Amino acid sequence: MTLSVWAPGRVNLIGEHTDYAGGLVLPIAIDLGITFNVAPAERIRLTSGAETVELRANGAGKANGWGRYVAAVAQELGELGRPSMGLEGTVEATLPPGAGLGSSGAFAVGVALALCSVAEFELEPLVMALACQRAEQRGVGVPSGILDQAASLLGRAGSALLLDCGSLEHRWVPLPDEVSILVLDSGERHVHEGSGYADRRRELEAGVLRRVRHVETENERVRATVAALERGDVAALGPLFAASHASLRDDYEVSTPTLDALVEAALEAGAFAARMTGGGFGGSIVALAEPWRAEDVLARTPERGWIVRASDGATRRRTGSTRGRA
Ligand code: GLA
Repeated sequence: MTLSVWAPGRVNLIGEHTDYAGGLVLPIAIDLGITFNVAPAERIRLTSGAETVELRANGAGKANGWGRYVAAVAQELGELGRPSMGLEGTVEATLPPGAGLGSSGAFAVGVALALCSVAEFELEPLVMALACQRAEQRGVGVPSGILDQAASLLGRAGSALLLDCGSLEHRWVPLPDEVSILVLDSGERHVHEGSGYADRRRELEAGVLRRVRHVETENERVRATVAALERGDVAALGPLFAASHASLRDDYEVSTPTLDALVEAALEAGAFAARMTGGGFGGSIVALAEPWRAEDVLARTPERGWIVRASDGATRRRTGSTRGRA
């Protein structure tokens, strides 16, 4: 048996740096992601380009780079009772790493789904998302929230996911047809290991005024965005995105001059809403445009960009069988 697992990246429409504060987020899973083509094996052996990671089936062994995620995910799943079955195969991505599109979350989700599939072990999507979140902390020491993993697992085509990261209550909010979603990559690379991400989290926990104010106002903006989407008031989204970006720039201080300039450039090129998305310190912006203008907005901004679609979350597909009886 071979197995193909797809784990999408995400674009957070609004609700940035609120997840680890138990706040609200509104991401979509996108049509850029990571594919794992694997077969069951005694050990774990995954190859991506020129790099291969080899571990015991329970994740034990020496791991570097992205192999640390594989090890940590296998260990977290083992603690949840996953039988120690390994896998062998390849990883291929259409999702750029470090671009603020949830690539490490998607990677962990794909590994988790593949490891669970070969061991015929089932987990609820949110239980799996939480295991992947813990793995990120365990493997690389980044205290990320649940946004990326939840979006990759729970995304739904044509809708955004409204998730309360405190209670984990969630529902899907249909997106209007008259909105195209664009992602523009600033090219500035962030690595949350060693970036200000963990500092911000500490400052928020210490109750620093401007950091707390960002989270409180951002939660309000998520509620207002959902209300606007539900009454079909697309025009209300521009000011909400603008206020979110300003708050991330001024109160939370996770934007950069490059991201600020890219937001301006997208608006000048005809987008009606734009803001930084993801952890910040580089990465991407998300912009909204009327569908007939979307290609033009892309063409008029020099950065690498995509028109993305709100897509279904991670899936697995059996793609064939090896020798043996059915
Ligand atoms: C990164 C983290 C997420 C979230 C965002 C900011 O993407 O992985 O958990 O905190 O930053 O909203």
